[in-house]
Amino acid sequence: MTYTKIVGTGRYLPERILTNFDLEKMVDTTDEWIRTRTGVERRHVVAAEQTTSDMCVEAAKIAIDDAGIKVTDIDMVLVGTTSPDLIFPNCATLVQHRLGIPACPAIGMEAACTSFIYALTTADKFIKAGEAKCALVIGAECISKLVDWTDRNTCVLFGDGAGAVIVRPSEEPGIVATHLGADGQYKDLLYYPVGASKDLHKAGTDQASIMMTGNEVFKVAVKTLGNVATEVLAKAGIHQDELDWLVPHQANIRIIQATAKRLDLPLEKVILTVQDHGNTSAASVPMALDVGRRDGRIKPGQLVLMEAFGGGFTWGSVLLRM
Ligand code: UT7
Repeated sequence: MTYTKIVGTGRYLPERILTNFDLEKMVDTTDEWIRTRTGVERRHVVAAEQTTSDMCVEAAKIAIDDAGIKVTDIDMVLVGTTSPDLIFPNCATLVQHRLGIPACPAIGMEAACTSFIYALTTADKFIKAGEAKCALVIGAECISKLVDWTDRNTCVLFGDGAGAVIVRPSEEPGIVATHLGADGQYKDLLYYPVGASKDLHKAGTDQASIMMTGNEVFKVAVKTLGNVATEVLAKAGIHQDELDWLVPHQANIRIIQATAKRLDLPLEKVILTVQDHGNTSAASVPMALDVGRRDGRIKPGQLVLMEAFGGGFTWGSVLLRM
């Protein structure tokens, strides 16, 4: 049987760091409120001229180097993002060109914070079908450019960054199960009000920003992420006790704690980056995976559960052996 194996990871975080204390000077908030309600202490924010593809390229170079492959080995590029440079061409196409990757499928995936999980799951299917031999899969986000920096309900939560993985076919596991879902009935709880075919040229739309009913999102996120985790384990016939690591979407420490509790998993077995990165949407899971691998906690052969939840709502999980 062919499995899809992660053979390299990388991440890029913009240079500029915005702390909770910096935010205290910008909106009516406190470090204490942000830390206790969300777990966030600081986040990275792109420079004015920096784009999502800029961050993707940097994260991808590190993952390519880590995997010990050449750019010419790559035969598929997937970029999960909600903040692409352009409406088109898609971000994956820009990344392919900038890295000098030969002609291949270049797919943009848009599922809000779940975009990377959607992209990795898609790559897994292509690899298992024999349609791809080496895929570059990225989750990246310039979410700071979609945020209203005068709205304390949202601006304290988010950060920018990119995480990349290289996946290849392997006889050894590998991704053992995936699970994706969505329910559009919740579209009004978390959305961006302007798009290519809606109000793009309307006066005042440059003032548009992320709209979120935070506490309602919170409730559905806690319930859904618990289910997402148990469903993927059931699909693989694996008991939660066997899990070595949970690599969750880093939206809020309290949501992560609730998921860990549902899995009976101590927080020592959870890779946490929310304190340093904030919620980086599509970038949060691949960046957390890279953090855990590079600091030596996540080791080859260990069982890892990655999961995410975002606007739509969308959700998904990937269970894999490193
Ligand atoms: O990425 C995937 C999707 N996103 C999420 O998963 C986010 C899910 N939601 C959350 O993480 C939480 O709901 C938030 C962190 C956004 C908010 O926490 P909460 O405990 O749900 O607070 P709340 O929205 O119910 O607001 C409680 C109070 C309000 O004041 P009143 O009405 O009680 O007087 C807010 O106005 O906290 C106030 N508040 C703030 N106070 C200080 C809201 N934001 C801030 C702030 N600083 N930044």
